[in-house]
Amino acid sequence: MGQLGRPLVMGGMEVSNRFLRSATMENMAGVDGQVGRVLLRLYHELAQGGCGLIITGATAVSAEGRAWAHQLGAWDEAQVEGLARLVRLIHRSNPSARCAVQLHHAGAAGGGYSYGSLYQGFDLNQAADGDIVELARCFGRAAGRVRRAGFDAVAVHGAHGYLVSQFFSPAFNQRQDDWGGSRSNRARFLLLVQEEIRREAGDGFPVLWKMNTDDFLPEGAGQDDYVWLAGQLARAGASLIELSGGVKEQAKLRNQLRREAGEREAYFLPALEAFRSAVDDTPLALTGGLRSREAMEAVLEAGADMVGLCRPLISEPYFPNRLLHGPDRRPSRCTSCNRCLLAIAKEPLNCLEFDPFEKVLKDL
Ligand SMILES: Cc1cc2nc3c(=O)[nH]c(=O)nc-3n(C[C@H](O)[C@H](O)[C@H](O)COP(=O)(O)O)c2cc1C
Ligand code: SF4
Repeated sequence: MGQLGRPLVMGGMEVSNRFLRSATMENMAGVDGQVGRVLLRLYHELAQGGCGLIITGATAVSAEGRAWAHQLGAWDEAQVEGLARLVRLIHRSNPSARCAVQLHHAGAAGGGYSYGSLYQGFDLNQAADGDIVELARCFGRAAGRVRRAGFDAVAVHGAHGYLVSQFFSPAFNQRQDDWGGSRSNRARFLLLVQEEIRREAGDGFPVLWKMNTDDFLPEGAGQDDYVWLAGQLARAGASLIELSGGVKEQAKLRNQLRREAGEREAYFLPALEAFRSAVDDTPLALTGGLRSREAMEAVLEAGADMVGLCRPLISEPYFPNRLLHGPDRRPSRCTSCNRCLLAIAKEPLNCLEFDPFEKVLKDL
């Protein structure tokens, strides 16, 4: 089975293999952020597909922080029951699957890939001190709900130009007080989020982080800043750090990174070594562009602990079991066309490229 089939322990949680379902917006919840049948079906398939650690799509920590109309929510006690149903289903569909909810706040409008964002935006540069602290507490309270619902872990969306990464990126954060300026000030909000999660969710509950390796913007944070940040998060108790990158125009950026990565596939592999030395033995996942078993094995060989997959699992939820158990070990059929990404603001998640219904629609 090779390295991909080896178990791993992080923050006391045992994960059965090295496949990470990188958080993927489903746009399948009710308008009130509630879990519904279509979403349950997606996670049943993912759990049966053999992915060791599943991270849900970005889940709103406050109703005002939503970027998508049908985004899952963890901002209200009334949402705990639906979340509990979701995790029960995942564990029943595959008892060895582990699942974390990704906590998210959109922050300023127009960041990331939330094309056609629902929310008008939260301007961190105009925010009062008390409002910033309250937002960190929203992350904490949402994490408490996630734990009470029965999930195995919680994850923080600290990448791609949403609220959490906006605080760290000078491309968004122009504050001159304790929340902005030096990189330790820009990291203050992120560390407060970690602290609030720990306070509300308690010990023994893994907290996973997704962060950028680089903003890829001249005025943004660069790799050195993020390597430093990863060290801070590891010391603050992060159980896994997932490496990604970029803050806006994600479809364009991913096409460019894909061309640059070429045969290697893994966009962020060149950054891995620096992060590895900054975080000691904190587990690292590398996400972005991985399509073949060979490239995934090479990423683990180079020092990552997990391989993160998003689009391959949109197209084929059973991809991990196919690679692990064969006989068909061909690379993912995902062509990285990004049609799913461009549609996600308006439609439920789907691989449009291989949807047979697309042929019917074509001639209309
Ligand atoms: C349709 C779609 C939805 C996504 N939703 C999220 C999300 O909710 N949270 C997140 O951290 N990243 C999200 N991403 C980014 C992916 O998790 C991942 O970082 C990126 O697609 C690169 O990995 P891949 O090449 O395996 O697709 C999304 C990407 C796509 C295509
Ligand atoms: S729509 Fe394109 S990018 Fe998205 S999963 Fe399908 S093939 Fe991959």
